[in-house]
Amino acid sequence: TRYARITGTGSYLPERRLTNDDLAAQLAERGIETSNEWIVERTGIQARHFADAHACSSDLALEASRKAIEAAGITAQDIDLIIVATSTPDMVFPSTACILQNKLGANGCPAFDVQAVCSGFVYALTVADSMIRSGAAQRALVVGAEVFSRILNFNDRTTCVLFGDGAGAVVLEASEQPGILACDLHADGKHVDILCVPGHVSGGEVLGSPLLVMDGQAVFKMAVGVLEKAAHAVLAKAGKTEADIDWLVPHQANIRIMQSTARKLKLSMDKVIVTVDQHGNTSAASIPLALDHGVRSGQIQPGQTVMLEGVGGGFTWGAVLLNM
Ligand code: ACO
Repeated sequence: TRYARITGTGSYLPERRLTNDDLAAQLAERGIETSNEWIVERTGIQARHFADAHACSSDLALEASRKAIEAAGITAQDIDLIIVATSTPDMVFPSTACILQNKLGANGCPAFDVQAVCSGFVYALTVADSMIRSGAAQRALVVGAEVFSRILNFNDRTTCVLFGDGAGAVVLEASEQPGILACDLHADGKHVDILCVPGHVSGGEVLGSPLLVMDGQAVFKMAVGVLEKAAHAVLAKAGKTEADIDWLVPHQANIRIMQSTARKLKLSMDKVIVTVDQHGNTSAASIPLALDHGVRSGQIQPGQTVMLEGVGGGFTWGAVLLNM
């Protein structure tokens, strides 16, 4: 059987780091009140990284990709498929994947973006897995990269404290050894309005708001329900049970959503990779950032069974079960 296996991971965070106190001080200048205590208690977030004004998603993606390519022991020219998950692309078009491809010097291979907001990385990994198993690709670079700081409304304290910028990447290669065991993706467009950036470009102007809006409580309720379903569906597809999971690498939106998922999977929190405290919610970048953190810290070991799961705007959600 032909499988797709992760052979390298990498990630990148912009240098500029803001603690909750740093952010609270900046918001206070606008007359917006928040506190470290409120943010930590409701979300588990302590700090986030923001890119400088000139840096785009492809710049963050490039740094993460170079590390993943190096970890896989290959060169950029060996890559024959590039998929970037992002909701903050460099341009309306062409895709951030094309821009990244040129920066990497991997010109010629297919390259495209996947847009599923915070579920983007599990969507992109599922597409790459299918293309590798079908023989359409041998070595894919799958990236999640975001500069959410660009679309935050810093006059809305209910959202601007939650997000950060960053990128994560994996190299996924054809292998006879099982890597990705099962994938499970879903979307329900009924819920477009609970988390969106409603604006669009028309006649040289942005019509509608170009900034993120969210109904936090509606998102919270949706997220905990669908994540449990996706986790059980992907286990069933792979013929595995909760006890087979060595590590859960969830989308890092909010520690309370992660704790709730762990509880429903009967996993203790020391089997969950947590980076939300230091990264905030980096949308499509959060899962590959957390995965790379787990690998480089020595927590996630070769051969272990890892569940990735994401949920986000759309509403979209999904899970991937894999052997490292
Ligand atoms: N600082 C201080 N006070 C605040 C802040 C803030 N940053 N934001 C809101 N408050 C206030 C509110 O105004 C409200 O005050 P009031 O009671 O006087 O009206 C109070 O805190 C409680 O607000 P709630 O919205 O009820 O707070 P809640 O406990 O629901 O927490 C939160 C809000 C953290 C957004 C929560 O709903 C949540 O985590 N939702 C999930 C959203 C999420 O994770 N989205 C990420 C994107 S989607 C994804 O990645 C899955």
